[in-house]
Amino acid sequence: MSDPKPQSRISFATRFGVIAATAGSAVGLGNIWRFPYEAGNHGGGAFMLLYIMFVLILGIPVICAEFAIGRQGRSNIFGSFDRLSNRKGWKFTGYIGILASLMILSFYSVVAGWTMEYFVQSLTGGLSAASDMHGRFGEFCSGWRCVAYTVAFLVINFLIVRKGVRKGIERMSSIMMPALFVILLAFCIYSLTLPGARQGIDFLFNPDFSKIDSKVVIGALGQAFFSLSIGLGCMLTYASYFKDSTNILKNASMTAGLDTLVAILAGVLIFPAVFTFGASPQEGPTLVFEVLPDIFNRLPASRLLSALFFFMLFLASLTSTISMSEISTAFFSEQFGMSRRRSCILTTAICLVFGALCALSFGALGNIPFFDFFNYFSSDILLPVGGIFICIFAGWIIDRKLLRNQLTNNGTTCVKFYKVLVFCIRYVAPVGLAVILAVGFGII
Ligand code: TRP
Repeated sequence: MSDPKPQSRISFATRFGVIAATAGSAVGLGNIWRFPYEAGNHGGGAFMLLYIMFVLILGIPVICAEFAIGRQGRSNIFGSFDRLSNRKGWKFTGYIGILASLMILSFYSVVAGWTMEYFVQSLTGGLSAASDMHGRFGEFCSGWRCVAYTVAFLVINFLIVRKGVRKGIERMSSIMMPALFVILLAFCIYSLTLPGARQGIDFLFNPDFSKIDSKVVIGALGQAFFSLSIGLGCMLTYASYFKDSTNILKNASMTAGLDTLVAILAGVLIFPAVFTFGASPQEGPTLVFEVLPDIFNRLPASRLLSALFFFMLFLASLTSTISMSEISTAFFSEQFGMSRRRSCILTTAICLVFGALCALSFGALGNIPFFDFFNYFSSDILLPVGGIFICIFAGWIIDRKLLRNQLTNNGTTCVKFYKVLVFCIRYVAPVGLAVILAVGFGII
């Protein structure tokens, strides 16, 4: 163990700030854009049940493992692994996390750019003037504006992350998360008054188990990991800014609970509207960008509604991307002694290149599916693989006493659940993840 003694390091200032930041990381496009179309494609309720099961038995233990490693290591992902083990190989888990976070940040910024364009177009009336939303979306994606919005989004993200953990990440998350909740709740109430509400809710909550196959299982797992921001050290990096008094299990459960709540509310918002206007819930990734604007156009106050909706998506994206950027920003600045500003510039520069490639794969580089590859490879493979390593590391490699002290705040909290939690971290999560991955790839 090179230096297990935590050094003094900046921390989140308030308890609300901690939950706003971690839930802000978790709640994102994954909940409002990805979850509804994944659920729509995979039979609604059946997918949701699997998803909730994975959140409970695999998600919460992995968040706790990340929190424990991060707070004990008090460093970026690479530094934390390095400090807590003297076997050099573990550091490579850090590299996987950094690579995956840069890949996710890149394609994610493209979608976040779409939300900005749609927000602007809603306000200026461009969206309500369009009659063919499919054509409209295709035209936008294939042009230069898609790249420009990706760049604009990354610049806004940069401006926040550069300000640091308290003044940038914590402060902005504490403002943006409550705003997001208020807008989301208002939309859900409105959606429930639509004539197709019953059908939409039935679709979301009635499980049809005949729809479950290995693809649905691996999809639900990938979705749970993506949505909870786990598997690549995002929660680990945030936990390195926790105070010693922060209750790990409580925060992990609240983060998972709020994240699942927002995913369900997004379904409650979208499916009643989809059924009311006779659209198909199986539209795929364009559900939010083609079907919804069409629906907004048929409602009163369409410009305001659609502007608010895309603003909400923008807020959700931003609280997530700042957490992804923090992984490599902390890594560059702590491992290479760069200033925060420089490491932020480096992170943003890499993502500008990757992001432009992803954006162009809808247009000029149409024959090279960068976007799909980045999305699939990082979320469905690197995240669960990273999750296995994180659980093995927390459960088997680091000193048991350190793990216990972290998970129970030196024996003062969560003592009752400690054994169950450790059992999940050591056995259930790694074995479960390995089996699901093997089944997904057709190995068993
Ligand atoms: N969880 C976020 C969402 O649902 C995305 C995200 C943020 C993420 N940080 C992450 C995904 C780290 C994987 C890993 O949109």
